[in-house]
Amino acid sequence: MPGVLDIKRATVYRGETRVFEELSLDIAVGEHTAILGPNGAGKSTLLKLLSRELSPVPREDGYVRLFGREQWDVWDLRARLGIVSHDLHHRYSDEVRGTDVVLSGYYASVGTYDHQRFTPAQRHRADHVMDELGVTSHKDRMFAELSAGEQRRFLLGRALVHDPGVLILDEPTGGLDLNACFRYLEIVRRLIRDGKTIILVTHHIHEIPPEVSRIVLLKAGRIVGDGDKRTVLTGDNLADLFETPVTLVRANGYYQAMPGRSR
Ligand SMILES: Nc1ncnc2c1ncn2[C@@H]1O[C@H](COP(=O)(O)OP(=O)(O)OP(=O)(O)O)[C@@H](O)[C@H]1O
Ligand SMILES: [Mg+2]
Repeated sequence: MPGVLDIKRATVYRGETRVFEELSLDIAVGEHTAILGPNGAGKSTLLKLLSRELSPVPREDGYVRLFGREQWDVWDLRARLGIVSHDLHHRYSDEVRGTDVVLSGYYASVGTYDHQRFTPAQRHRADHVMDELGVTSHKDRMFAELSAGEQRRFLLGRALVHDPGVLILDEPTGGLDLNACFRYLEIVRRLIRDGKTIILVTHHIHEIPPEVSRIVLLKAGRIVGDGDKRTVLTGDNLADLFETPVTLVRANGYYQAMPGRSR
């Protein structure tokens, strides 16, 4: 079976900056993965590579394949791969109702417009998704009137209307309080139980659900560690990655990084 993503020797520029040089990474279906990296490591660039906002420098022996294919109709791709990015959260308009945030997934727009038409099946699906995410009671509120945790769940719903098999989440719990964070993580775990493949891109250690078994460490555009969570997610590796002493604590299947070195 073709993998979710297969990147081979991708060199990617942003402006004059070469962010990746011959980056290779593949992730199989069902292989829940967290890609960890400090600020500037290239996480957002990687997301843009996967969402097709950026392309690698063309070369014969290099490619970016999603589900085994290099060329995609964006509509077909969206139904298989949902990307919930932090950029989207920042760009989202305050003047959009909750329901319309979710419905906007069908047009990949920010909010909905009068000319857009939604079928009864689409509306039904959006209602179902809001129900699952526990936001139905807020569906008529404006985006600006929702808490950060509620906003984040509506944006997840926007990706979920397509029922994609794979979800890529960009720092999903950043800015959420403990309750909202734990609630979101429970939703992510439920999606995993429902058979979705989850790929997290983050620098927050605490938001890695227990089911995520593979860790990829990204630093300055290079993969500096990749493998099983128990081997790769260590205090020493995080200390090297973030260039600061780290003590890693594990509880209930989750991890948390503390400053300083344990002795
Ligand atoms: N538009 C741009 N033009 C030039 N360089 C850029 C541009 N966007 C990003 N970069 C550079 O590319 C590198 C990777 O940036 P990227 O945003 O992918 O990192 P990141 O891992 O997402 O960081 P963060 O955790 O801060 O979000 C950084 O060195 C950044 O300065
Ligand atoms: Mg980023």
